[in-house]
Amino acid sequence: MNSDIKYLQVIFLGTVIVLFFQENVGLDQVGAQKEIYEPDYSVYHNLTSIVSDLTEIINKYRNFIIASHEFKSKNGHTQFLIRLSNFTRERTKVKILLAYGEHAREFFPIESMFYFLKNLTKGLDKPFEGRPSNTFSSWVVNNFDLYIIAITNPDGRSYIERTKNYCWRGTGAGIDLNRNFDWNYGGIGSSKYRGDEEYRGPKAFSEPETLVFRRLAASVSFDAFLSFHSGIRHIYIPFSDTKSKQQHRLPKNNDDMFKLAKQMSNSSTLRPFKYGLVYQMIDYTADGTSIDYMAGVAEVPFSLAIEMWEHEHHTGRSCFDEFNPKSEHLQDEVALVHPLYVELLSYLFTWKKKKLMTVSSLLRVKKDDRTLNQSDHHDVLYSSHPSSEVMYSASFESLVVCIFFSLVAVVCVVLGARQICQLMRKKRIISLKSLSSTFSLYKSL
Ligand SMILES: *[C@@H]1O[C@H](CO)[C@@H](O)[C@H](O)[C@H]1NC(C)=O
Ligand SMILES: *[C@@H]1O[C@H](CO)[C@@H](O)[C@H](O)[C@H]1NC(C)=O
Ligand SMILES: *[C@@H]1O[C@H](CO)[C@@H](O)[C@H](O)[C@H]1NC(C)=O
Ligand SMILES: [Zn+2]
Repeated sequence: MNSDIKYLQVIFLGTVIVLFFQENVGLDQVGAQKEIYEPDYSVYHNLTSIVSDLTEIINKYRNFIIASHEFKSKNGHTQFLIRLSNFTRERTKVKILLAYGEHAREFFPIESMFYFLKNLTKGLDKPFEGRPSNTFSSWVVNNFDLYIIAITNPDGRSYIERTKNYCWRGTGAGIDLNRNFDWNYGGIGSSKYRGDEEYRGPKAFSEPETLVFRRLAASVSFDAFLSFHSGIRHIYIPFSDTKSKQQHRLPKNNDDMFKLAKQMSNSSTLRPFKYGLVYQMIDYTADGTSIDYMAGVAEVPFSLAIEMWEHEHHTGRSCFDEFNPKSEHLQDEVALVHPLYVELLSYLFTWKKKKLMTVSSLLRVKKDDRTLNQSDHHDVLYSSHPSSEVMYSASFESLVVCIFFSLVAVVCVVLGARQICQLMRKKRIISLKSLSSTFSLYKSL
């Protein structure tokens, strides 16, 4: 009798302890699984070869690449911020930020980046003997300013190599960087429990790995931001957060984003990618994501997450093969997704051209060109010229302001009324200043 009660007490206590730990530690993280397939590091990159291959490319193509090791992970690995363009060509280019390797177990996107980078740089090998060796490469560097965060989460990769836990998604400290951004940070579409897969970290932007995103967003007016992932074949348009889902919020540039997503979706020779608003495509929400931040806070006109690859019939819980193709298929698979980039660039090229053909662009182009000088590359990578960036960001307001003043300018010229012109010039300076202080809000982030 007595021992029966003790027995029950133990069970009761045990249950309480288990519940307590579930509540406070969280048991959601997918632990290491029995992998039915592991990467062959003579085909897939590992952290060491990511560093050596990138270093080789950067050194070989110094005329077209500026690289920075300023941004580092918590454990001190460089994230490799690189910028690829024809810096001697002074013209307004399409500015795109491409980010790879946010989630540790998704190896595939980084492989796709290497394919893309090698494709571009190979075409620059002997640019001129009458004409460029590859017109695609030359078209890209002359018309685009590509910023690439090559490996957002190197600590996570290092963790996987050390532990062979191919299910690991977070940083070395187990934080899901894609819940750590300051857009509805902390919502139910993320976890506050260390140990959960979607652990968001102690506060928005608590992790050093997100600094590069903030700094770039504050100093460069990107036309587009893309975050690359794998595990499914989807093209995601913001928003993904819980509030936006409740409010049916659409991003500012929704229509154009759908057009771009559609064009990229159809680039596949296999079958189209599915695309749409994140909160309509998936049955959970995600709070504090990079694409929401870029669309909602930084107001980048195009902000997308590209889920590049999926296993067609995945069963069981092995992870490497759920997120990545087998080593022997890797080369074919990266070639198959390459057209995504071609469509991305071709759409944005046309979009930007149209945008520049507005009256306001006549005022803006000249100033913007100045930011593209290689001599001040440190300036361009990390800070910028606020006034030109503000003009360039061309919100609807500034468009209206610019159209108004260009009309006034025409009237001034026609009437030759110098006094009126001088008066207006003063006003314009004031209005630009006020715009620039609006913008500087972001700079203090
Ligand atoms: C990384 O990959 C290279 C081949 O590219 C290989 O020689 C090296 O041993 C690998 N390192 C680790 C730690 O697996
Ligand atoms: C880069 O720009 C310069 C200046 O416009 C031009 O002469 C050169 O051909 C361009 N390089 C390539 C690879 O197109
Ligand atoms: C790079 O890719 C483009 C677009 O698919 C292609 O036209 C070009 O020939 C490729 N360049 C090289 C050097 O393979
Ligand atoms: Zn991912």
